[in-house]
Formats: sequence, C-alpha cells, structure tokens
Amino acid sequence: MRWRSLGSLGGAAALALLLQGQLVRSDIPIEVTSTDSLKAAGKAIAAPMWEFYLQNQTEGIPGKLTDTWYVAGAMFMTLMQYWQVSGDNQYNSVVSHDMMFQAGRNYDYFDSNYSQWLGNDDQMFWGLAAITASETGFPEVKGKPTWTSLARAVATMQMNRWDTSTCNGGITWQIHPWQAGYTLRNSISNGGLFQLAARLARFTHNSTYIEWAEKIFNWSLDSPLIKEEINWFVADSTSGDNNCVDSGDMQWSYNYGTYLVGSAVMYNITQDEKWLRRTKGLLGRLSTHFFPKEYGGNVFSEVACEKLHTCDRNMLNFKGWTSLWMAMTAWMVPETRAIITPKLQGSAVAIGKQCDGETDNLCGNRWYQDTWDGIKGLEVQMAALGGITSNLMLLANTSPKTVDNNPNAKEQFLDTYSDDTPDALPHITTGDRVGSWILTVLWGSGVVAAAWWLIKQK
Ligand SMILES: *[C@@H]1O[C@H](CO)[C@@H](O)[C@H](O)[C@H]1NC(C)=O
Ligand SMILES: *[C@@H]1O[C@H](CO)[C@@H](O)[C@H](O)[C@H]1NC(C)=O
Ligand SMILES: *[C@@H]1O[C@H](CO)[C@@H](O)[C@H](O)[C@H]1NC(C)=O
Ligand SMILES: *[C@@H]1O[C@H](CO)[C@@H](O)[C@H](O)[C@H]1NC(C)=O
Ligand SMILES: *[C@@H]1O[C@H](CO)[C@@H](O)[C@H](O)[C@H]1NC(C)=O
Repeated sequence: MRWRSLGSLGGAAALALLLQGQLVRSDIPIEVTSTDSLKAAGKAIAAPMWEFYLQNQTEGIPGKLTDTWYVAGAMFMTLMQYWQVSGDNQYNSVVSHDMMFQAGRNYDYFDSNYSQWLGNDDQMFWGLAAITASETGFPEVKGKPTWTSLARAVATMQMNRWDTSTCNGGITWQIHPWQAGYTLRNSISNGGLFQLAARLARFTHNSTYIEWAEKIFNWSLDSPLIKEEINWFVADSTSGDNNCVDSGDMQWSYNYGTYLVGSAVMYNITQDEKWLRRTKGLLGRLSTHFFPKEYGGNVFSEVACEKLHTCDRNMLNFKGWTSLWMAMTAWMVPETRAIITPKLQGSAVAIGKQCDGETDNLCGNRWYQDTWDGIKGLEVQMAALGGITSNLMLLANTSPKTVDNNPNAKEQFLDTYSDDTPDALPHITTGDRVGSWILTVLWGSGVVAAAWWLIKQK
C-alpha cells in the first residue's frame, strides 16, 4: 500500500502528515524517456545508499564495509557510472579517495589486510570499478597511479593465476588453497576477468588483453560454464575436484551479464561475427529468463531467490550490475538496443514503485511488486540505482572513453604488486581442507551452487 492519496485529504491535514513524517510514503514517478525524471530518481535513491555506506564502514576505514570488502568497490563502480550520465557529482570526492585508499599499499586491490581471505571475484569488482573510472573520465588523483593502471594490476595478477593443473585452465573462485571453495571455478570470476580484459583492451588498444579475453571465453565454452548448445545456458560453477566434468547450475543474472558485456565490447573492438553471435545468444537467455512473463516480461527479477526472499546480500545486487552491463551492451552493439530498451525501461518504472519504503524512498528487492517489500540496505539501493542509471545511459549521447579521448588515464606499468601464483602459497593441511571436502560432498548431492553462497561469509 502506498500513501500517495493525500489529495483526498484537506491541505492542512496533508501538511500535518507530512510534518509528522511517518506516514508519508510515495512512489518515485519515473518517466523513462525523460532525463530529468531519471536524474531526480537517481538522486532520491542514491541518498539513502550513501547514508548506509557512511554508517556501515568498519571502524571508519574508508571503503571497507563491515563483513564484506567488495561491495563498496561495486558501489563505487555504480556511482561513477551514475555520475557520468547524471552529472550528480556530490559523491565524487569521497568515491575518489576511498577507491584509491582500498587500492592498498601496492595499488593492486590486494592489500594484505584482506588478501588472505579474498576470492578472485572480490578483487575483480574493484578492477571493474577502476576501468569504469577510466571510461567515464573520472578525475585522476595527482601523484597516484592512473585508474587504468589499477585495473591493469588486477587483471595482470588474475591472469597470472590462470591454472592449468586441472580443467585445462580457468581461474579458481578462491585464491588460496586453504580457502573453502578453492577448487571451484565459477562464472563470475572467469566471466569477470573476461569482461575486465575486454574493457582494458578497448580502453588501451593493447592486443594482449584481446587475446586474454578470447582465451577466457574459449575456455568457458570448453568447460561446462557456458553451454552454447543449450541456447547459451550459463552455469554458476564447475569444480577442479573432478576435472570440471559437471556444473552447479543455479541461474544468476550477473553471470550472464558479465559474459554478455564482455562479448559486446569484443564485438565493438573486433567486429568479428562470432562475438555478435555470442552477444545475441547470451542476451536472448538473459532477457527472457530474468524478465518473467508473469510480471509482464519487462521487469527484471533475480528469479532464483526473489520470490522466497532468500536472496543474500550478494544476490540483492545482481540486477543492478547486470542492468548497467546491459546498457553498456546497447552502447557497444547498437543493434541490441531494441531488445534491451523495453527491459530496462519496464524495470525503471517498477523501481519507482518499489522504492517507496519508509519516509525516504527506501527501495526493496522485488521490483515487480507495487509497494516496498520491506528489505532495506545499501545493496537494494545500489541495485535500484543501477537500474535507473542504465536508463540514463540509454538516453545519454555518450559512450565509454578510451585512451584516445582520455589520455590522462593512460596505463602505467607498476610492478609494486607481489607475485601470488599458487605455487608461492603455503601448503594446505588436513584441517584447511575441511571446507573443500564439505563442498565435494555437497557437490555429489547437487546442492553445491546453493551451498557456496552460505560458505561465502563476506
Ligand atoms: C588495514 O587495517 C588497518 C588496521 O585496522 C587500518 O588502519 C587500515 O586503514 C587498513 N587498510 C586498508 C587498506 O583497509
Ligand atoms: C600490453 O599489456 C601487457 C599485459 O599487461 C603488457 O605486458 C605489455 O607490455 C603491453 N604492451 C604495450 C605495447 O603496452
Ligand atoms: C579460441 O578458439 C578459436 C576457435 O577454436 C581459435 O581459433 C583461437 O585461436 C582461440 N584463441 C585463443 C586465444 O585461445
Ligand atoms: C562501437 O561503439 C560505438 C560507441 O557506442 C558505436 O558508435 C559503434 O557503432 C560500435 N561499433 C560496432 C561495430 O557496433
Ligand atoms: C548497516 O546497514 C543496515 C542496513 O543494511 C542497517 O540496518 C544497520 O543499522 C547499519 N549498521 C550500522 C552500524 O549502522
């Protein structure tokens, strides 16, 4: 229920209600073809997100949220993309400072405060944030490495982790053998590095990144992660424990989104038809499976968890990032626009209705529901902001920069980061293996894809 019908009350009564501030809950009106309307919505949604950010930092450490590290990086990625298309620069100085702070002592988003327990996907999100800074022309920081250099450091470290000990390649989900989930090779880690390599290739024109993007996609097709033959099905994970013969098949939108945008960028660079086929194939499944007919077919839903309210804090974000990646796909491959536009527009209108929580436009998770579903926090605000920003991207007369029109962001070659190839790591003990053993057993019973979310406590 919404509290919009103040029109039926007398003006004074309405004012009294407003002043009380309790009952006044209202939708955000969204006009999907109006930049002003979308900008206003973005502003209204970003504000509470930022409040959550300020309140939830661990002991005031810039860019470190309690119980998670990568979420702030993903938030900065979202905010920079939002800034580029809205012009709302009120968060820029803090974003800039905190992004650089978390690059850590070696400028590689692998600071020793966290590096013992990180997954490749955690580090990867900061790399995507850094390349987003370069593409949006986010101001460089005097006396510090360029944003592109930070993105490159992440990509280089992860390429060094390419692991042919099983499965013919791929990078593992977790980085260290002592971590539960080390043997898993998941789509977001591999697809994330694929996307980062493709975007670095486009930004820098360095063909090494093109080769890497191609290699990662090849491997993903050869592994059970991407099944072209079943209509571009993207599995969640596969495991080195049995040489990647099978997969955990939970369906998550961001796995599609990351392979989609990387393919679109590759098509933009190479104009090779195979990348167009991949882009269209992945978009086909993404734009049907995650936009269910029962909600009209144009409202984004993280179908595996939304209905039962079982989305954890990671899953709450997926729609937002994927929306941004869909809009970037429309930029990179204009012929996909006709498919993408109604999906993102329908979602924006839905977001306007879902974001009527409490007094200050808190957003929930179920965009398809007309009123706030009661879930609140940084993650759902970020997802909604991503949904609105993606529509601003569709209307904006701009595209991601490259080193040609953002020469300030030229990559520098830092070699401050440490070598962390698997061989250099300590040996695992029986105790350390327990987590992986549990995963192996669960794999047998077919619930590993669900289980790894439970294990991922960060
Ligand atoms: C690492 O931890 C120390 C001690 O809590 C803190 O002062 C510092 O800011 C942290 N650095 C990063 C990059 O989070
Ligand atoms: C291209 O990138 C790779 C990997 O980062 C690097 O080793 C190489 O020197 C770069 N080439 C040029 C011409 O900058
Ligand atoms: C990817 O696979 C294609 C087709 O099998 C092959 O021609 C190409 O050389 C591969 N590229 C890389 C970088 O592995
Ligand atoms: C690549 O992206 C640019 C910028 O959005 C676009 O104008 C161009 O048409 C794209 N190229 C291809 C081959 O799709
Ligand atoms: C952190 O954010 C949550 C919402 O996700 C909020 O309920 C909680 O109060 C915040 N924590 C602190 C310490 O403010």
